[in-house]
Amino acid sequence: MDTEHYFVTCAKGVEPVLADELRGIGAGDIKPGRGGVRFSGDLALLYKANLWLRTAIRVLRPILEATVTSPDELYDAVRTLDWSRYMTPDHTLAVDSNVRDSGITHSKYAALRVKDAICDQFVDRVGRRPSVNVDEPMVGLNLHIYRDQAVLSLESSGESLHKRGYRPILTKAPLNESLAAALILMTGWKPETPFIDPLCGSGVLPIEAAWMALRRPPGLTRKRFGFQGWMDYDVQLWTALRDEARRGMGRTLPAPVLGSDLRGDAVAFAIDNARAAGIGRLLRFDKRDVRDFRPPEGPPGVILCNPPYGERIGEEKDLVPLYKLLGEVFAERCAGWTAFVFTGNPTLADAIGLRPAAQIPLFNGKIACRLLRFEPE
Ligand SMILES: C[S@@+](CC[C@H](N)C(=O)[O-])C[C@H]1O[C@@H](n2cnc3c(N)ncnc32)[C@H](O)[C@@H]1O
Repeated sequence: MDTEHYFVTCAKGVEPVLADELRGIGAGDIKPGRGGVRFSGDLALLYKANLWLRTAIRVLRPILEATVTSPDELYDAVRTLDWSRYMTPDHTLAVDSNVRDSGITHSKYAALRVKDAICDQFVDRVGRRPSVNVDEPMVGLNLHIYRDQAVLSLESSGESLHKRGYRPILTKAPLNESLAAALILMTGWKPETPFIDPLCGSGVLPIEAAWMALRRPPGLTRKRFGFQGWMDYDVQLWTALRDEARRGMGRTLPAPVLGSDLRGDAVAFAIDNARAAGIGRLLRFDKRDVRDFRPPEGPPGVILCNPPYGERIGEEKDLVPLYKLLGEVFAERCAGWTAFVFTGNPTLADAIGLRPAAQIPLFNGKIACRLLRFEPE
C-alpha cells in the first residue's frame, strides 16, 4: 500500500497527546503543529487513525497545496488536479472551508470556487458533473487557507470524530468527547487504578475512561466515516481492522470507574449514555453532592472533574464556595490520590486554595482553560 501524508486536527493544546496516540498506532513522520498533527502512513493506517484516535477531531488527506492570492487563482489551482482520481459524476461532494489572514476573505465563496473548478472539469471532459450534498457527501473536501497558502484535503472522518454516538442528549456545559479523552490521557491515569469524576454531568469522563480501560476503539460502532464514500474504499480492510480491534477488547474493568453529580437528571443521563456506550453494567453513577464525596477504600487513583466555571457575568461569585469546597475535600479526604480540575476561570482556580503541582494550558472551544494537578498528602 502507498504511503500518504495526513493531517489530523485536534483542540489547541492537545497536540502532544494526539502525537502519542499516533505513535501508538504506528504512524510515521509525526510532526505536531498548531491545532493538529502531521503524520504519514498507508490506507490501513488512515483507517486505524479514524478507528482509534480518541483525541482527534478529523483526519485529512491533503491533495493540493498551492499559493493563491484570489478566488480565481484558487479555481485555476484546483483545476490542475485530475479529479477523476477521486470521484465520478455520480458522486456527491461538499466543500468545507476556513480562511485566516488571507486576501481571500470569504470562506464560503472560496469553497464555491473549489466546487465550480471540480464540476467544470467534469462537464468539459464527460458532459456531466457531481452534485452537492452538504449533509452527507460521498466525498467531503476541506479547504484551509492561511495567508496565501491554500491546502485542499479529502476529509476522511465525515462527521467530527468526537461524536461517538453515545450522547444524544447534551446537559449543561458538556465537555466534548475528544477533549475529555485528552484530559484523561494527560492525567497519566493507569486503568489498574480507580478513576472518579465527582461532578460528572452527562458522564463523559467516566465513559471515555472505561473505553480506554477496555481498549475499546472510539470509532467501533460509529455509523459512517468519510473514507467509506471514496473510490478506493477497501471494505475488507476496514472490516478486518474493526474485527481485530473487537477481538482485543477487555470485558471487565480492572479497577472501579465512578461518577457522581448533585443533579439527579445529570445522573440519569450519565446512566443512559453509559448504556448507549455499551458499558452500562460496568460503571456506577450516584447522585451526590461533592460535599459528601469520599473516595473508596483501597489503592488510590485519579480524581478528574470539570466544575462549572461561570461563563456568564455574575456566576463567578456564586461558584467560589464550590471551588473552595473542592480544595477542602481534596486536602482532607483524598490523601494519596491525584486530583485534577479542568477550568476556564483563573479566579475560581485560585479559590481551590491548594497549590497546583502542575498546570497544563488548553482550550475548550475558544475559552482558554487549564488542567490543574493536585497531590494531597
Ligand atoms: C460543567 S458540568 C460537567 C460536565 C461534564 N463533564 C459533561 O461533559 O457532561 C459541571 C457539573 O457539576 C455539577 N455540580 C455542581 N455543583 C455540584 C456539587 N456541589 N456537587 C456535585 N456536583 C455538582 C453540575 O450538576 C454539573 O453537572
